[in-house]
Amino acid sequence: MNSGWSTLPAPGDALPAWASGLWPGPALPLRPAADAATPAAQRRVTFTPMKETDLDAVHGVETRAYAHPWSRKHFKDSLQAGYPAVMLMGEALPHEREQALRLLGYLVAMPGVDEVHLLNITIAPEHQRQGWARFMLDALVLWSRGQNAQWLWLEVRQGNTPARQLYERYGFRQVGLRKAYYPNGHFQREDAVVMSLRLDNPAGEGSTP
Ligand SMILES: CC(C)(COP(=O)(O)OP(=O)(O)OC[C@H]1O[C@@H](n2cnc3c(N)ncnc32)[C@H](O)[C@@H]1OP(=O)(O)O)[C@@H](O)C(=O)NCCC(=O)NCCS
Repeated sequence: MNSGWSTLPAPGDALPAWASGLWPGPALPLRPAADAATPAAQRRVTFTPMKETDLDAVHGVETRAYAHPWSRKHFKDSLQAGYPAVMLMGEALPHEREQALRLLGYLVAMPGVDEVHLLNITIAPEHQRQGWARFMLDALVLWSRGQNAQWLWLEVRQGNTPARQLYERYGFRQVGLRKAYYPNGHFQREDAVVMSLRLDNPAGEGSTP
């Protein structure tokens, strides 16, 4: 049963300028995260293509967010392969001291023939649980539809409850299990849950290709 949010963009939804310019392209103008039904909706954000010069900041977040982070080489290889990689930058709120844009999160994807594979989505620990991952998935759905993709795919560690909750609530469905897919500490492995989301269905139902 889909207990996802009603805001999953519907087929035919207009591709907003901020999403159509997601990758590649220059940083987009700041816009309010008007769709996020959380206090974070007050923060103005922008999507910026990830570059190699951003990898110190990105990898800093990665190592704080994951017990098993990607290496810098993972990011570098993804950028060199030309995979879409984007950072969500947020403006400081009035009560925050810093004026500079802060890195809220990022995602890396890999386009296929009629699908987009989500390789990494991460929100900085101090910005989690404010709706940003959902906001980035909305943007990814819109962008992927713009690429004529019909499916979004991903793998997630079986034990990663926050991420599995996020994807299930968003409308992703489990379509497989890869046994012992991820390294998990000293000579141990963890299964990967394979999930997909149909992009031509507003509720994400029927997610079996
Ligand atoms: C998983 C992750 C991306 C979620 O980011 P987030 O911005 O905190 O998620 P959101 O605020 O958009 O949450 C959306 C929904 O996801 C689920 N969720 C998110 N974090 C959760 C948690 N810690 N526990 C349970 N459910 C959670 C909830 O259903 C939540 O909706 P709710 O807040 O209305 O209950 C973030 O925890 C993260 O970066 N984790 C480390 C990296 C990672 O595991 N990435 C996924 C790899 S496959």
